[in-house]
Amino acid sequence: MDCKIGVIAGDGIGPEITAQAVKVLDAVAAKYGHDFNYTNMLMGGCSIDKYGEPLTQETIDTALKQDAVLMGSIGGDAATSPWYKLPADKRPEAGLLGIRKALRLFANLRPAYLYNELKAACPLRDEVIGEGFDLIIVRELTGGLYFGKRETGEKDGLRFATDALTYNEEEIRRIAIKAFEVARKRRKKVCSVDKANVLDSSRLWRAVVEEVAKDYPDVALSHMLVDNCAMQLVKDPGQFDVVLTENMFGDILSDEASMCTGSIGMLSSASLNDTKFGLYEPSGGSAPDIAGKDIANPIATILSAAMMLRYSFDLEKEADAIENAVKKALSEGYRTGDIMDTTGNNEGFVKVGCSKMGDIISERV
Ligand code: IPM
Ligand code: MG
Repeated sequence: MDCKIGVIAGDGIGPEITAQAVKVLDAVAAKYGHDFNYTNMLMGGCSIDKYGEPLTQETIDTALKQDAVLMGSIGGDAATSPWYKLPADKRPEAGLLGIRKALRLFANLRPAYLYNELKAACPLRDEVIGEGFDLIIVRELTGGLYFGKRETGEKDGLRFATDALTYNEEEIRRIAIKAFEVARKRRKKVCSVDKANVLDSSRLWRAVVEEVAKDYPDVALSHMLVDNCAMQLVKDPGQFDVVLTENMFGDILSDEASMCTGSIGMLSSASLNDTKFGLYEPSGGSAPDIAGKDIANPIATILSAAMMLRYSFDLEKEADAIENAVKKALSEGYRTGDIMDTTGNNEGFVKVGCSKMGDIISERV
């Protein structure tokens, strides 16, 4: 199969982690006889440095010509980087929000799965972990607070700022449909998370999700308030299958869920529109503090590449091959620093850097 893959390496650890994912994809291409053609694209801080803006029309146009885009991470240290002296709409994050909007990537899938091998890196106690957990957060990605009307001003001598949280029923319906479809391929449970005891937008959310549920009688729907969900994730993560939620709640809950898996360096993600196209990125950030040191965990990016093979190219067995190679590397004891045993009992583990982890996983494809 011939596939055009756009690569946004980005900032911070982005270039080192995407390089490992490309390495693993090359191993897949060689083994299964595919032709993956990569096109590098600039976005985020590196685009600001070159063009003065985090996302150019050229990057959008190039992305539109690809079958899928693989991304590392964007952004820098807000306290020290000159990028954060710019107005908000010129900062690196605006590039990411902009490309999600431009490519209509409304559905963000973030699986959080506890590898048996990583139980020791999971900060939850054994009795909480139980049989482990395997959940996926379906986060709405192009609406809500992150795209609502903003205003900063002064009134009656007081500074004020507003961010509006707006959803229309169509935006809710299409993400709900996505969640139910995902649930059908899993354990057939959707937990829709909102704040319907306070927010109008959540009350509409709940009503529309209920309507969509009528078309999926085989899927069990429940509702949960977001504050309770934050608690339940660390109390009994095994109860969740598909967690459906709006943009900001999903942003927050997915970081929390990832930490339950041991490290945010393990959490992959897929951002999809209503075609086969998708943008695949680790859920974590650019970690400027460890950038360039070859110690970042590339696994989330490598697993994002597996999601790309599965969702955009329908290459199921190739995606399995990557996921199994990751499991194999872990069961053989290879660890980046972030997934060593939190109790310090690291017997049998081999600590490796980012690039070495990429080699080890590629070899096991
Ligand atoms: C994420 C990130 C982004 C988001 C930031 C960088 C804008 O936190 O992908 O979760 O909030 O969506
Ligand atoms: Mg986030």
